[in-house]
Amino acid sequence: MQKLSIHGGVPLSGEVRVAGAKNASLPILAAALLTAEPVRVSNVPELNDVGTMIRLLERMGVAARRTPHAVDLDASAVSQPFAPYELVKTMRASILALGPLTARFGEARVSLPGGCAIGERPVDLHIKGLAAMGATIAIEAGYIHATASRLQGARVFMETVTVTGTENLMMAACLARGETVLENAAREPEVVDLARCLIAMGARIKGHGTDVITIEGVERLHGVEHAVMPDRIEAGTFLAAAAATRGDVTLAKAPVASLDAVLEKLREAGARIDVGADFIRLRMGARPKSVSIRTAPYPGFPTDMQAQFIALNAVAEGTAFVTETIFENRFMHVQELRRLGAAIDIEGNTALVHGVEKLTGAAVMATDLRASASLVIAGLVAEGETVIDRIYHLDRGYERIEARLGQLGARIARVS
Ligand code: EPU
Repeated sequence: MQKLSIHGGVPLSGEVRVAGAKNASLPILAAALLTAEPVRVSNVPELNDVGTMIRLLERMGVAARRTPHAVDLDASAVSQPFAPYELVKTMRASILALGPLTARFGEARVSLPGGCAIGERPVDLHIKGLAAMGATIAIEAGYIHATASRLQGARVFMETVTVTGTENLMMAACLARGETVLENAAREPEVVDLARCLIAMGARIKGHGTDVITIEGVERLHGVEHAVMPDRIEAGTFLAAAAATRGDVTLAKAPVASLDAVLEKLREAGARIDVGADFIRLRMGARPKSVSIRTAPYPGFPTDMQAQFIALNAVAEGTAFVTETIFENRFMHVQELRRLGAAIDIEGNTALVHGVEKLTGAAVMATDLRASASLVIAGLVAEGETVIDRIYHLDRGYERIEARLGQLGARIARVS
């Protein structure tokens, strides 16, 4: 199994281009199910999760052609509106097939996602929303079986803000009869990117980016060419790494407008940040100061950046309170960071991170995608060698991370 070896202590320096967003690519690829015409998606990152979504679509009969950073999809001949457990269990975002399949084909069989390392993560709101739009839903042998002759527009209030739930229902509503209003909708930039793609396919959507999205259903959608937005979490991860190593890093093609909460905290940590139309430069000249954070749905501080900020706080001056409000078990990285010398206590859903002068390299294990990113940041700071096991988690969300950090001067290599 592949591991990542990092010899820490080098301040990151130079320029790196931000890749396309994983969490925008996945729903946009699923949206190809909504039309019989060709769809071309570009600026798609080369990630394991993207590969899984393409395989899932191919299993259904979608013709897919992948070229570097682009995918051509043709869902004119879908034979099986079915998402099998083998694929859904490796990637929960497979649930994004449920809305489009039910809307276009009147039927979907999608495996219920099983357990997850970061929390319970039910999909009840996806199911309730589709039921409110007139779908008949049965749970049979671990599968969600949805049927509908044609979905009907409805008012749907989601009691918890859910990103993929909002995306699933927004996609389904595009082909429903009449108007759908999604209340307490997710405002994440990835939802907005999906909405833009759907609008370019002929969908009638208003209010994306706010917590009330209104969709007027149409008879059919047409083909599209869409370039995916840059990945704000990848960008934030590079910036946190630059800050922790006291570096000077410029991000090109950065999603400038979607990073406010993260940039604010990096400034509070002492970083000097210059922002241009599509670049961000971060310079950190001294030891970072600890910054307390509380995760929240967008535009709040993203849960997907929580682990990376624990790593930053681990070497900062002072004590930080890091409160996780979205997922109930998203502190798996803490035990691994302790192995590198971090001083962190957990009380309920808050981690108290007491900054230490230095971390020391050790063997650690990645438990999920963002946890692995926090271990990379800690490894870049630690004295000596850090070896990270189970880096397939990292490959789900960061494209050629070792090459790109290497370009910034990091001493990092993939080893078997
Ligand atoms: N929730 C419910 N019922 C539902 C759906 C969600 O109770 O039907 C709860 C969840 O258990 C959680 C909260 O609502 O407590 C928010 O979960 P959400 O549905 O928003 O998460 P998601 O859509 O499954 C996406 C991202 C995650 C990111 C979260 C939160 C994708 C493919 N995934 O997941 O990304 O952490 O939103 O922002 O967009 C990652 O990239 O590392 C990652 C985990």
